[in-house]
Formats: sequence, C-alpha cells, structure tokens
Amino acid sequence: MDTYSKKYNIERNDINNAGTVASLTKRALKKRGLSREFVKQVTIGVYEAEINVVIHSYGGTVIVNISDDQVDITFTDVGPGIPCIEKALTKGYSTASSYAIENGFGAGMGLPNIKAVSDEMNLESSEKGTILYMKFDITEKCYAS
Ligand SMILES: Nc1ncnc2c1ncn2[C@@H]1O[C@H](COP(=O)(O)OP(=O)(O)O)[C@@H](O)[C@H]1O
Ligand SMILES: [Mg+2]
Repeated sequence: MDTYSKKYNIERNDINNAGTVASLTKRALKKRGLSREFVKQVTIGVYEAEINVVIHSYGGTVIVNISDDQVDITFTDVGPGIPCIEKALTKGYSTASSYAIENGFGAGMGLPNIKAVSDEMNLESSEKGTILYMKFDITEKCYAS
C-alpha cells in the first residue's frame, strides 16, 4: 500500500480542535483495513500526545507516517518543556492548569498510556520544547479479519 504521510499544526490552548489529528489518523488506519483493536491503541496514543501539546506547550506540529509495517508519529512543540521526564511518566503526575482541568484534562495518565499502547516511545525535552516519538508495529494480526 502507499505510504501515508501527513503533517499538522497544533495550536496552544485550542481545546475545540484537540483530537482532530487523532480522528483523521483513526480514519486513515481503518481505511487500510487495520483492526479495531490496533486502531484504538494508535488513536489513544495520538489523542493523548495531541492534548499534551494543546494544554502544556506553546504549540507545535505533528507528522504521522503509515507504511505497510509501522505507524510512526512525531510531535514537536515549542516550550516550556518537561523538567523531569521520569516524573512526567509517573501515573497520576500532572501540572495541568486550572483551564485544562476545567475542560476535563489533567488526570496525569497521558504519557503512561502512550508508553503502554505503543511499541516504542521516545521523549526528549528541554526548556525550548519537547519531541515525542511513538511507533506502532504493523504485523499480520493487526489487520481486521
Ligand atoms: N508537550 C509537553 N510540554 C510540556 N510539558 C508536558 C508535555 N507533555 C507532558 N508534559 C508534562 O508531563 C505531565 C504528565 O503528562 P500526562 O501524563 O499526559 O498528564 P496530564 O496531561 O494529564 O497532565 C504534564 O502534566 C506536564 O507537566
Ligand atoms: Mg496529558
């Protein structure tokens, strides 16, 4: 199948559009005949990372690549970055603003869930910004039967 590659901008605090990249990616994966379970795992990962850029960063971009054997997604944002990655990966840890909490975010489960659903995750951060990479392997069993 053709390689699917898309790039999107993600705006700071744009809660109304948060989830758009996850929805579009979900649709593209379904179209390629991937199973509901596989699509769900990827959608969770993309959604959580997308929300994080919206509520924790000053804005950024995401590149979604889908090939025959993997889905890889890279989120790149501009500051403030994550001072302690180990802490950020802890279940329940959150520095979400009251604005984010009022809108139902900030359970502190996004990064732990991304780690759980993906086959590979890499998180790099400085005060300039954050780069989050996640990869999902596509094997025969990832296709709907
Ligand atoms: N893109 C990001 N930029 C800055 N900080 C982030 C980013 N993503 C995550 N974080 C930090 O990691 C913490 C944990 O993230 P997460 O597990 O998704 O929980 P939540 O988003 O509910 O706070 C966040 O509260 C925030 O401090
Ligand atoms: Mg989060």
